[in-house]
Amino acid sequence: MKQFTAVSDVSDPIALAEEALAMKADPFGSKALGQDKTMVLLFFNPSLRTRLSTQKAGINLGMSVISMNAAQGWQLEFEDHIVMNTDKAEHIREAAAVVSQYADIIGIRTFPSLTDKVKDYSDFIINRFIQYASVPVISLESAIRHPLQSLADLVTIKEQTTKARSKVVLSWAPHPRALPQAVSNSFIEWMQAAGMDLTITHPKGYELSRDFVKDTPVEYDQQKAFEGADFIYTKNWSSYDQYGKVLQQDSNWMITPEKMALTDNGKFMHCLPVRRNVVVGDGVLDSPQSIVIEQANNRTYAAQAVIARMLRW
Ligand code: CP
Repeated sequence: MKQFTAVSDVSDPIALAEEALAMKADPFGSKALGQDKTMVLLFFNPSLRTRLSTQKAGINLGMSVISMNAAQGWQLEFEDHIVMNTDKAEHIREAAAVVSQYADIIGIRTFPSLTDKVKDYSDFIINRFIQYASVPVISLESAIRHPLQSLADLVTIKEQTTKARSKVVLSWAPHPRALPQAVSNSFIEWMQAAGMDLTITHPKGYELSRDFVKDTPVEYDQQKAFEGADFIYTKNWSSYDQYGKVLQQDSNWMITPEKMALTDNGKFMHCLPVRRNVVVGDGVLDSPQSIVIEQANNRTYAAQAVIARMLRW
């Protein structure tokens, strides 16, 4: 595996999820794979789970891991044929090539601008790294996708049920700030690839890109969407059409125990971090229906399965 940025980089997502579960059963069994190998993780945006779980995954595989906060003090130029006489002191061509001298695998987190839809949806920054890096690149969340999260989500669903085709609902929920669409886009494409019975529910105006939604049903009545669901996956995202805008913060869309009661004893999922009593009520998050901690735990084994494939590549 030369790159891990989207489900399309994986020919067999179910098999990869099974490899992650095998890693979970024997976390240190492949330590020889990473001996004398180094992974460099570049964070242009903050992270708790992605940073620690990917680092732990590398360590479990016997690697050395270097994490760098790349946001402050390192102004990179991504455009070609430009006179670099402003604040940007280094070009992506040299930066990616140099980091490749120190790393056997590079991980990059780079959020969208939420102002330039065309550039964000070209996944410009991570693609420029891939273009000029000479080693495999892992997305630690790009402008439009979060594949390590989605793989962990699939792993979590697989370990919670024996059903091959669960009813999964992706539900928008309110949030005071404008958030990226990356987690939701990515979740949709992984659930589609895994053959889940997926429904998306959100208020009008929060339609996601058709390139991701494709023929997945959209139900504007949240309570109707929840009926009989096995998994409720909740995430806020800002508007795609009115790009990056918060159109409303209707608290009626918050996930409550009453709404969870409409499901088939469904499990509550969220990638975290989550705002309590804004996105989801305490009564859900603190109930046995919530599997958010298991989900976060599986981030390590999802990353481990991806890194292991890259080390074998
Ligand atoms: N879910 C997730 O990516 O969390 P962090 O932003 O803490 O990495």
